[in-house]
Amino acid sequence: MNTPLRIDPLEDDLFREQFQSFAKLMAYYRCAMMEIETKFNVLNQEFSLRFDRNPISSIKTRLKTPISIREKLTRRGIDVTVENIEACLNDVAGVRVVCAFPEDVRTLAKALLKQDDVELIEKKDYILNPKENGYRSLHLIVAVPIYLAHEKRKMRVEIQLRTIAMDFWASLEHQLRYKKDVDFTDEMAKELKFCAELSAELDRRMDHLRESIHEGK
Ligand code: GTP
Ligand code: MG
Repeated sequence: MNTPLRIDPLEDDLFREQFQSFAKLMAYYRCAMMEIETKFNVLNQEFSLRFDRNPISSIKTRLKTPISIREKLTRRGIDVTVENIEACLNDVAGVRVVCAFPEDVRTLAKALLKQDDVELIEKKDYILNPKENGYRSLHLIVAVPIYLAHEKRKMRVEIQLRTIAMDFWASLEHQLRYKKDVDFTDEMAKELKFCAELSAELDRRMDHLRESIHEGK
């Protein structure tokens, strides 16, 4: 049947309004990610001038998709509204910084948090205290201002700092865990944890090597 869709003009207005404020909020989050990414790029530049090597191997940014925003709010029993997205979620904007050595993770986190426009909201140190499955990374939730034509707005960004070894493990673990139609056995979990310990050992040894090379200079 080819019945034309009847849309109540009032609902139409409401939809347009909500859609626009959602799009605006997402644009703000994108700006906040750019601010954070730039801060890390600046630190990387400065560091490479001072020490003749790059502490950052790569930076990735990602914006949470509308589907997973809705899924997370609904899971927590929160109404899906534009206001609640901003009020209740810390990880709409995500920045992942992959570093060469564990020491670089510490140095970069410290340097970022020292900046007077960066406010630390929450810190989870899964490097000092790895998760039960072996996951390691340093997670920071920060609030950073973005400067618009007529206002300054503080936006929250989730930052994950990790080494190449931590990133390697996390990427593969993520792929394996979300494999469809396969039961994730205790044996598999044990093996993954063992691999996480190997990657931590690799980080420790590489950090020692870096130290001795640095001191030998
Ligand atoms: P989420 O609801 O997933 O955001 O968890 P949370 O609010 O408790 O935050 P947490 O800081 O523990 O984890 C946030 C993010 O870190 C996840 O979305 C992943 O990107 C990453 N992460 C945390 N745990 C793991 C893990 O066990 N494996 C992998 N591969 N990534 C993880
Ligand atoms: Mg998350």
